[in-house]
Amino acid sequence: MLVHAITSDLNYEFASDVRAGLTRTGQKELPSKYFYDDVGSTLFEVISHLPEYGLTRADERLLRRHASEIVERLAMPVAVAELGSGSGKKSRWVLEALCRKQRTFYYPVEISRSALAMCERELRDIDSISILGFEREYLDGLLEVAAHRKYGQHLLVLFLGSTIGNFDRAAGVRFLIEVRRILEPGDSLLLGTDLEKPSAQVLAAYDDELGVTAAFNLNLLARVNRELDADFDLGQFSHMARINPGARSVEMHLRSRRRQRVNIPGADLQVEFLEGETIWTESSHKYSTEEIFEMARNAGFRCAAQWIDEEWPFAENLLIAE
Ligand code: AVJ
Repeated sequence: MLVHAITSDLNYEFASDVRAGLTRTGQKELPSKYFYDDVGSTLFEVISHLPEYGLTRADERLLRRHASEIVERLAMPVAVAELGSGSGKKSRWVLEALCRKQRTFYYPVEISRSALAMCERELRDIDSISILGFEREYLDGLLEVAAHRKYGQHLLVLFLGSTIGNFDRAAGVRFLIEVRRILEPGDSLLLGTDLEKPSAQVLAAYDDELGVTAAFNLNLLARVNRELDADFDLGQFSHMARINPGARSVEMHLRSRRRQRVNIPGADLQVEFLEGETIWTESSHKYSTEEIFEMARNAGFRCAAQWIDEEWPFAENLLIAE
């Protein structure tokens, strides 16, 4: 076991993204990547245990059940990069299966330092693993990982949890194209995608009874208060989830309960909200099994295998770079 981390300071970007998102004409927005500070990453952990939110458990079931089959399809030797590792819990089975065959380098790429630390603690006990974490944005981190690649070594990129769903469909394919550019033919990408399911089930998953998802969403405003000295009154905003049928996504918004003004000194900004006006904070796109093959092709991959969970429609897709 070997654990290191390469860290960075991504904070300066926050103020300018908050400013850009809240001064837009029309729909105000905040990027969903800012959910994941210490509080937000912990709340997401809780969400993944909620009965209404079956996504993470489906992902984990598939990875556990099919770990050896996944590993058997990989060109060896192979190093593993994970985009947005989170706690790292669900990567254990694939990593263990790999570590039975070879000493394995595992490079989690994660913008949340606390998630990165959690991930390193979670997986360090695996025999024959070396972990080097990168506190980086996905593509910056992946570029650095690729630069560490040894001659003849392949890469397996893990992009799990249907995080790709936070991109709209076009941006999702553009992202896959960027990933493909960093890879070599024969490298692979294990892509987790949440599948389409009845609206009521999706809405419940993003608006749970306990209010954990509401807290997760509102934490974005709390974070702006903490880090940019703002005075958002959390009681004057409410969590909202809604289906966007055209986009085949579920959106989360924060809805202003009344007309109000908020000061955000750290972004040098004052923002006005109308009663009922929303800040769009996240979209999670849902996929059909067939469209994933097409997305893969359009990005220079071949979808070599797809495993589907029957309990909670979700697919694990093994894409091979062509
Ligand atoms: C971790 C991005 C996949 O979109 O379902 C959970 C985040 N948002 N509940 C998702 C999330 C609301 C989650 N991803």
